[in-house]
Amino acid sequence: MKKLFVVANWKSNKTKPEAIQWLQDVTSNIYHLSLDNKGIIICPPFTLLATIKSYIIDNTLPFKLGAQDVSPFTEGSYTGAVNAKQVKEFADYVIIGHSERQKHFHETEEQTSQKVSLARAHDLVPIFCIQRKESVIPKGVTIVAYEPVFAIGTGNPDTGENADVLAHHVKVKNSIPFVLYGGSVTGENVITFTGMPNIDGVLVGTGSLDSKEFLRIIANA
Ligand code: PGA
Repeated sequence: MKKLFVVANWKSNKTKPEAIQWLQDVTSNIYHLSLDNKGIIICPPFTLLATIKSYIIDNTLPFKLGAQDVSPFTEGSYTGAVNAKQVKEFADYVIIGHSERQKHFHETEEQTSQKVSLARAHDLVPIFCIQRKESVIPKGVTIVAYEPVFAIGTGNPDTGENADVLAHHVKVKNSIPFVLYGGSVTGENVITFTGMPNIDGVLVGTGSLDSKEFLRIIANA
């Protein structure tokens, strides 16, 4: 059975009470599911990393934590930035290069590659997002998420076949072991992606915010 990643990208959503409610809902149902081959990674906003880390430990939840971004700089005078050493205090993974970072924060290729190298230097595993087959993938990336812009938050996912062809291409060209698909993944359509030979999991935005839908995605992946 291949390893599957199910990654929740909460984006800029949830307060602390909302996150705790979500965790409680998930905790009471997660043990009914078979998680043998599934690695679940929750990527909340920075403000919730500490709370969720404690909750995972206290309740021995089989989840890992990820951040949604990391500073392209080390520690120092960079107001508002959270650096890789700080993220590593809480998380093992970090999403880098999401198209929303490009669209709303004008993130450049140079910055994403700097983020990857600092993440790796601090033992964080980058989940590197690409939008196209031709996207440049920095050295040292082991998990790529293919997220076509037309599919993000639109309810209009790519097809499993297209995503699989792209995943195969990326794996061969860049020697990437794991390629995930992201964009309008639901409990209903997740298997059309995870059932493909070259797709190793999903990156889920909207579908991860509701605990019941997220559990459905895990169950059906
Ligand atoms: P979506 O977002 O599941 O809401 O389409 C996916 C993502 O942007 O990571």
